Amino acid sequence: MQAMVDKDKCIGCGLCPTICTQVFGMGEDGKAEVMCEGLGEEVQDSAQEARDGCPVDAISIEA
Ligand code: F3S
Repeated sequence: MQAMVDKDKCIGCGLCPTICTQVFGMGEDGKAEVMCEGLGEEVQDSAQEARDGCPVDAISIEA
C-alpha cells in the first residue's frame, strides 16, 4: 500500500499528521506530504482514517 497527497487539493488543515504521524507530515509549502515509502501493516488503519478525515479528499491510498 502507498499513500499519496494531492497537493493541489490539500488546504493545509493539518489533520492528517495529527491522525497518522508516522505517514504524514507538513511540508515547507504548508501542505501535507507522505513521509514514508509504502505503508506497513501497523500504520494502514490510521492512514485510512486520515484519508477518510481529510476535508477535501486530498489523500488517496493505493494497494
Ligand atoms: Fe491536507 Fe487533507 Fe491533510 S487538507 S493537511 S491532506 S487532512
